[in-house]
Amino acid sequence: MADKRALITGITGQDGSYLAEHLLNLGYEVWGLVRRTSLDPMMRIDGLVHPRRRIHIVYGNLRDGASLRSALEQSQPHEIYNLAAQSDVGISFKCPDETMEVNYLGVGRLLHEAMHVNPQVRIYHASTSEMFGKTPPPQNEHSPFAPVSPYGEAKLLAYEHFVKPYRDKHGLFMCSGILFNHESPRRGEHFVTRKISMSLAKLKLGLQDDFSLGNLRAVRDWGFAGDYVKAMHLMLQHEKPDDYVIATGTSHSVRDFVETAAKVLEMDVRWTGAGFEEVGLDRNGKVIIRIDEEFYRPVEVQSLRGDASKARRQLGWSPQVSFAGLVDMMVKNDFERLARRS
Ligand code: NAP
Ligand code: GDD
Repeated sequence: MADKRALITGITGQDGSYLAEHLLNLGYEVWGLVRRTSLDPMMRIDGLVHPRRRIHIVYGNLRDGASLRSALEQSQPHEIYNLAAQSDVGISFKCPDETMEVNYLGVGRLLHEAMHVNPQVRIYHASTSEMFGKTPPPQNEHSPFAPVSPYGEAKLLAYEHFVKPYRDKHGLFMCSGILFNHESPRRGEHFVTRKISMSLAKLKLGLQDDFSLGNLRAVRDWGFAGDYVKAMHLMLQHEKPDDYVIATGTSHSVRDFVETAAKVLEMDVRWTGAGFEEVGLDRNGKVIIRIDEEFYRPVEVQSLRGDASKARRQLGWSPQVSFAGLVDMMVKNDFERLARRS
């Protein structure tokens, strides 16, 4: 019997899969909250999990307080990792109500039920660098929040109305991880890094002719998800609950990501034109990348670069995978997987 039990909401997502794997390898009993329509959480996990360790499933939804109460009573966790969210910033402009319902009100439901079932439980909550919005980089725990998307707004409301009050007034052990963008071969295919790694791999294999992107000038601090879930766990082992920025401290544009990814596949991209007329050409002058207004956001977070010195100092956390290493890992993984299939 494991000494520690963890309940992960959002276990079927990118971070949920790496975190489940990490906790299983640390000897935790892992429970995952899934919806009826969720994929099997083990499907994304292909790492070195002990074959006898498995994930215990409980059904629930952040939209439904009773389901959360029952999941908590069944799993009796020592630690809760709240990763579930409508996590797509672009979609949050199209579905603001759902985003608020899950990313803001859902957090309140979970904390209310957790407090009732076990006020001693330790909780990690997935905040986000998107909350910094218009605040220029570098951003750390003291930088002002200025979200520009419904997603960022909802995450900030959850932090201000639930996370902080439950910690400061009700004494719940709550940590808020302000994580900057983190990616991996398990990243959802609609996020820009995975869209680029998949599309270039398909182009290289002759499975696709071209693809479209939005704002190439957007700058992000991209790290590896496998590194970032370790920080989530470390936060809950610390003596006191707090907020931590988790980031690499280096940033790159979407254009840089495309060029670095193309080099992994020994492809060249040459840019010509401007604005919506800009295109990326291959070495034969064929258009392989177009710009489509559809992929622009009504309001954009232009630049993110985090300063994670507090996490480095207090948790001993540091990222292990570089930008070049991350791009290489993602592109090769997509290329090899698609090549096996074609
Ligand atoms: P993801 O891959 O999109 O996973 C989202 C998860 O949330 C999925 O497991 C999904 O389950 C679940 N979910 C969605 N709505 C739900 C609901 N109403 N009830 C229960 N579960 C629900 O996201 P991720 O990249 O792993 O991110 C994890 C968390 O970190 C999110 O809260 C995200 O906002 C935050 N975050 C991510 C990053 C990043 O760069 N990845 C950075 C900062 C913060 P289904 O399988 O049922 O759809
Ligand atoms: N998705 C997407 N698709 N983004 C594009 C595209 C495209 O075709 N072209 C350019 N971009 C730009 C977006 O406008 C944004 O500036 C940047 O690429 C990154 O977009 P995403 O990969 O969708 O990530 P995000 O930064 O909006 O949000 C992610 O990171 C947040 C942390 O800062 C998500 O994981 C959020 O859940 C997370 O909180």
